[in-house]
Parts: sequence; C-alpha cells; structure tokens
Amino acid sequence: MSSTVVTGIGELLTCDGMDGPVGGRLGLRHGAAVVVEDGLVAWLGPATDAPAADHRVDVGGRAVIPGFVDSHAHLVFAGDRGDEFAARMAGTPYDGGGIGVSVRATRAATDDELRALVAARFAEMRAQGTTTVEVKSGYGLTVEDEVRALRIASEFTTETTFLGAHVVPAEYAADRAAYLELVTGPMLTAAAPHARWVDVFCEPHSAHAFTAEEARAVLLAGREAGLGLRVHGNQLGPGPGVQLAVELGAASVDHCTHLSDDDVTALADAVGTTVATLLPGVEFSTRSPYPDAAGLLRAGVDIALATDCNPGTCYSSSMPFVIALAVREMGLTPGEAVYAATAGSAKSLRRSDIGRIVVGGRADMTVLDAPSHVHLSYRAGVPIARVLDLSGASTGVAG
Ligand code: NIG
Ligand code: FE
Repeated sequence: MSSTVVTGIGELLTCDGMDGPVGGRLGLRHGAAVVVEDGLVAWLGPATDAPAADHRVDVGGRAVIPGFVDSHAHLVFAGDRGDEFAARMAGTPYDGGGIGVSVRATRAATDDELRALVAARFAEMRAQGTTTVEVKSGYGLTVEDEVRALRIASEFTTETTFLGAHVVPAEYAADRAAYLELVTGPMLTAAAPHARWVDVFCEPHSAHAFTAEEARAVLLAGREAGLGLRVHGNQLGPGPGVQLAVELGAASVDHCTHLSDDDVTALADAVGTTVATLLPGVEFSTRSPYPDAAGLLRAGVDIALATDCNPGTCYSSSMPFVIALAVREMGLTPGEAVYAATAGSAKSLRRSDIGRIVVGGRADMTVLDAPSHVHLSYRAGVPIARVLDLSGASTGVAG
C-alpha cells in the first residue's frame, strides 16, 4: 500500500458539509494538504502537519476541488444532429422528435463503434475534470438494443440508468400501450441486471414522451425490479414530473425548467430524498428560460448540476461550462455552483463517497489552473480544469 501527499494547494474546496447554508458547506481551506492511499483520502489537514508519505505531488499553488459528478448524461448514441441544432437556432422549437434520428443511427452501429464513441466521450469529460458519470440508455428502444447500451455503459461506470421510456419508438406510434407493456415487462426484466436506476421522460408537452400515468407505471415497475428512480420532468413546460418524482421518492428529478410554486414547495419538503437536478446546458442549447437556481436554494431545495450531454438538447460534456451558466444565468454564487456540481450531484446519485474530499472518501480530485474555484465561471470557456492524476506521482507539479 503506497501513499501520496498532495501539497502546494493554493485553495482546497472539500464540499464536506451535508447541512446548513451552501456558503457554510464549501469547506474552503488555505495551506492544506491531502494524503491519498489506495485511491481513498487517508488524511486531510494543514500542510505543516502532513504525515510522511511515499510520494509527493506539488500542485504549485493551484486550486483543488472534488472531481465533478456528472449525474445526468446520455452517452450511448451514434449519428449526428448538428442540423437539428442549427434549425433550432433559426427558430424551430425542440419537441423530442429528433430522438428518433439518434435511435436509427444507434441501432445501426456495431458494438465496437458504440464502445469507441462512449470511450471518447468519457475521455472528453475526464479531460475537463469529471470523475463520475451517470449514463442512460434510451437510444435503442428494443430489448436487445437497450440491453446493449447498458452493457456498454457498464464498462465505463456503475451509474447506469435504464431509459427505455425515453420516447415511444416509431414502430409503436399507433400502439403506445403495447410499448408501455414492453418497457415495464420484458425490456425491464432484461435491462435491470445492467442498471442501477430507471428513468422516464415524463412530458405531456411532447407527443413522443410519456404522460404522468404512463411515467408512474414505468417507475413503479422499475422500483419492483429493484432499480432506483429518476425522472426527466418539467422540461418543455409546466407538468406533473416534479410532483410524481417527489410522491414516489425518486432520487432526482431532472431539468425543472418550468416550476410552479407548488413544485418548489414539494421539492423543499422532499429535501433529503429528491434532488432537483438542473441542466443549464439544455436551456442554452434549446434557447429556453433558465430556472431560478438561487430561488430554489433560498426555498431550501437540494439542487445538483449536470450536463445532460446528449445529441439533441445539449451536446456539451463540460461541467465547467455548466457551472459558468449556473452562475451567469441562474443566480448561483461560484461556490454554490461548484457545490451543486460535486456534492449536490453526488447526493442525487445517493453517494457519499464522491463529490466531497473527506477522509475515507474516494480521492477523486480536480485541479484548476487557477488560484481559486471562482475562476471556473470567471474564466468561462478556458480549459482550466482537469482530473488530478496521482498515478506515477513522485515530486513536482501534477498534470
Ligand atoms: O434530457 N428530454 C429527453 N431526453 C434528452 C434529449 C434527448 C434527445 O433529444 O436526443 C434530454 O433533454
Ligand atoms: Fe436527459
């Protein structure tokens, strides 16, 4: 068992509190050091008190934060929808219909092609400081293609989500009930061994997505199969997704673009159970209004930030971009945004071993080419974040 001490940390953000106002949860320290053993944090404290270790990494005055937790991503897809984005920027609204384009391309791809695409997207995320990614299926929509997506996703992450209820595929357009039976029956049975979560696109404003009652059936069947619950809700307009997610005790309801006062109250009452996961890259890429993240925090709601990286509504894998949007467009302080993108999103995955730098937790850390976390939003668009790589550490600046 070998140990590594990380020194020269200009600013350490541990995000190590679980309660209280966000400002009090950042765990901001100067002059700190971290000792890592076997991938876990073994010690944390003033650098002057650091115990001896086998190796040393000096980060040269840079800021160190928990690795980003991207708790909402759709990475298993083939094909390209750049034209759809261009049309949207020219005024065509998003309605979920483009998902069918990705479904056709994904079904036509080989396993190796899909695996290579997922690997490239993971590498892209890691290069921007992300250490945990949740990955959904949802571009297969046959038993075989959904299981294939989850199998491939499982090669990269344990946070896999069955999203057979993404849209009703074209071949079932005339018989939604039959597709619902498939998704809650044989498809779920085949997918469940490869998934930790079940998700549903609950969106009455899209003819392609699912109503509240359909979504309820999907979630209840998923729960019966042993899966945790997540919901795509309130994305295209006010709707039932948030209330359904809260009622069923889902770990997360994602998007929350259009919230009523009752939705906010329900989310505040559900603190500790249901996190509101905000995806500002989607509002950016679909020219939608941004939800009031600062208002949600003031109301006492648990919030998370994630990319929703997908070929339709946000083809960005960048958590720093999401953080910058959350600060510029949704009223969060830079610290609140980093917290939501680390500890907040870890909570939405019901994980306490990631998203924070704490003794006994995973040593997933991200280093910034900057003196403080504020630069993530201050220097928007500049690639300052990368995962702190301790492999082969000796002395010198980590890279
Ligand atoms: O989270 N809303 C549903 N699913 C994705 C978009 C998928 C697509 O358009 O390909 C989302 O926005
Ligand atoms: Fe999504």
